[in-house]
Amino acid sequence: MMAEIGKDIKKAASLLSSGKLVAIPTETVYGLAGNALDEGAVLDIFKTKQRPSFDPLIIHLRDIDQVRAYVDAIPEELEQLAQKFWPGPLTLLLPKKDMISDLVTSGLDTVGVRVPRHPLTRKLLHRLDFPLAAPSANPFGYISPTSAQHVQDQLGGQVPYILDGGACDIGLESTIVGMEQGQVVIYRLGGTSVQDIESVVGKVLILPQSSSNPKSPGMLKSHYAPRKPLLLGHLDELIESHRQKGIVFAVLSFQRSFPEQPSELQYALSPEGDYDEAARNLFSAMRALDSSNAEIILAEELPEIHLGKAINDRLRRASAR
Ligand code: TXA
Ligand code: MG
Repeated sequence: MMAEIGKDIKKAASLLSSGKLVAIPTETVYGLAGNALDEGAVLDIFKTKQRPSFDPLIIHLRDIDQVRAYVDAIPEELEQLAQKFWPGPLTLLLPKKDMISDLVTSGLDTVGVRVPRHPLTRKLLHRLDFPLAAPSANPFGYISPTSAQHVQDQLGGQVPYILDGGACDIGLESTIVGMEQGQVVIYRLGGTSVQDIESVVGKVLILPQSSSNPKSPGMLKSHYAPRKPLLLGHLDELIESHRQKGIVFAVLSFQRSFPEQPSELQYALSPEGDYDEAARNLFSAMRALDSSNAEIILAEELPEIHLGKAINDRLRRASAR
């Protein structure tokens, strides 16, 4: 069974208003959206994604004034970040009001909120009188979707409608930020760079990403993983040793191409070395190489600047199993 793919905001709004799920485009990745105030829709999101109930959802709102209706307070530093980066790839963890169900937050007293920037989804949110709970529209643990087709490939049988907003602009999930004891904390690296955040609020704490008892399960090590093993290291050495063993491999590089590799077994994220372009291509590249005939994906880390930090975070998780 296939989902219908289209650009009909009215149709998306009417499905959502009647408790159904719709896949929506955002500038980061596609989301699997449902009415955040409808517990049936929220349960359906968990079921469709096969997501464990202890992994909370973030909610999407049209602007900061709508956010205020669902949270108790916005600490000053986080308000500054909201003013600077919304609409955009930033999620804030804020104390929730009672009208946000424990199902959404997995019993936590904070709720993740985000004002997305994608024009179609912004129009959609303006038509609705409720926020949209939306995790990335992928089966739990797999790579997030950055096109309508990615969603169709994996969840097409389970959602009636995919709102098609084209390829995602940013291509990495939002950066998740909160406060602990007066200190700004990053829980998940993402589409808003640490540099950009620190330019507004000064030095922040980046929580260790491999914690075995994650506050945010987006921090589980083997998350966003392709099906094939992915090895991170020095590409020349990895290529040499796998060639010697006669293993069919694919290469995922930042800029370089490899003349001896068949074109379908290599992907340069950005030949010019543009970090935004690399982020935009990352998940498509991982999907493409994952469905190649290679046995293994060999990849390299990027320099730890701009979105390189968040890209490396995703590569490390993809390599953990
Ligand atoms: O860019 C994005 O954030 C995308 C698009 C669709 O908006 N959404 C997304 O949602 O990536 P999801 O559910 O795949 O990842 C959200 C992460 C999860 O790892 C969840 O554990 C964490 O946010 N999270 C949500 N609410 C939280 C809370 N109250 N405290 C700690 N972590 C939370
Ligand atoms: Mg996700």
